[in-house]
Amino acid sequence: MRISSVPHAREWAQRRLPRAVFDVVEGGAEREVTERRNREAFDAVTWQQPVGVQAESIDTSIELLGQRLSAPMLTAPCGLAGAVHPDAEPGVFSAAAALGLGAVLSTTATRSLETVASAGAHPHAWFQCYFLGGRSGAEQLLERAGAAGYQTLVLTLDTPMPGIRYRDAGHGLTLPMNYRLGAMARLAPQVLRRPGWLARVARRPSTLSMGNGLHGVPGGGLDRLFDEVPTWADLAWIRERWSGPIVVKGLTRVADAQRALAEGADGIIISNHGGRQLDGQPATLRVLPQIVDEVAGRVPVLVDGGIRSGADVARALAFGASAVLIGRPYLYGLAIAGEAGARRVLDLLVSELTRTMQLLGTPDIEALRKVPVQFDVTSRFGIERQDDAQVTLGGAR
Ligand code: FNR
Repeated sequence: MRISSVPHAREWAQRRLPRAVFDVVEGGAEREVTERRNREAFDAVTWQQPVGVQAESIDTSIELLGQRLSAPMLTAPCGLAGAVHPDAEPGVFSAAAALGLGAVLSTTATRSLETVASAGAHPHAWFQCYFLGGRSGAEQLLERAGAAGYQTLVLTLDTPMPGIRYRDAGHGLTLPMNYRLGAMARLAPQVLRRPGWLARVARRPSTLSMGNGLHGVPGGGLDRLFDEVPTWADLAWIRERWSGPIVVKGLTRVADAQRALAEGADGIIISNHGGRQLDGQPATLRVLPQIVDEVAGRVPVLVDGGIRSGADVARALAFGASAVLIGRPYLYGLAIAGEAGARRVLDLLVSELTRTMQLLGTPDIEALRKVPVQFDVTSRFGIERQDDAQVTLGGAR
């Protein structure tokens, strides 16, 4: 497989997907400030490399909520994977399982949670719950997810309604999933320019359907995705209906981390939904250290947003994350070559993480988490802004 890096996979995926489909994956909310901030924060990280040390062997494995993962990575819950390739979520789960990584299934997946569970036979399968069809719908989902063998529940709290994604709006697509005929006709020219995608998707016409729609409800109740949304008050309610760990996703504030602990969450995921919800949120990496301090090891602290290499995974861990979630990168791989592509991207991230650990001389994740790391103090924004600063200085002289 010729994918050489995540940026390479991104370019390749862009060439394979109709523009509107690529934009559904790639887009952030509004002016995409948060989406950019997430990525730029990783550029501003400066290692203090200990030299003259060699780790004899590298062990990237971790223990997370009672499960052993081969590396501190899970695939993030991303709806609509079937829109990029018919291997869809089962392909992603199989890829993650083959590598010993965790995987989180979205409520808005294109395949049912039962199909995904049986396809991947995944030992570290988590389910992300939206209140599709209100609390009664959520009750059914929790029951189904438990019966299908998902071990951990992820409750996403940053989505009281979908963010405005200008790219989708420009293509005439609106959430939840309003693929209107008019919009479809408008997309025909870009779709026809991607015959490979069209052929793959046509082989599996249910590609864009929702796998977890409510049984017996017309349209699966998807128009009711935001009737009732989960709030802090629901944690106790869910606790009565879910026996495994509950992890809260979508926090960027210390106060919300405190609230999560007070409500008895078993873990938290620092996330701004990959910049797809409230634009203007801080980069997740920037808020990670203070939340890690606050939580002080009481529960695992995971983070996602903007991770585009194994070195980025290492950066997040050095800032105190217990593990990370990977979103868009595996969708790029999936778009290129289905399950094999997703697997290649995830495998690349693991080998890049291993290489970074070798460069740092850290034999295991515990050692990596102790390596001194800081944000570049000369520039809060990375190299481009350093150039700007020089220009300004030059002018002032
Ligand atoms: C998402 N994300 C998401 N999160 C969630 O809790 N439920 C969901 O259904 C979805 N759906 C979704 C679809 C697509 C196409 C994307 C790209 C993302 C957010 C996701 O779980 C994760 O937080 C971000 O993707 C992480 O950022 P990066 O790695 O994509 O930069």
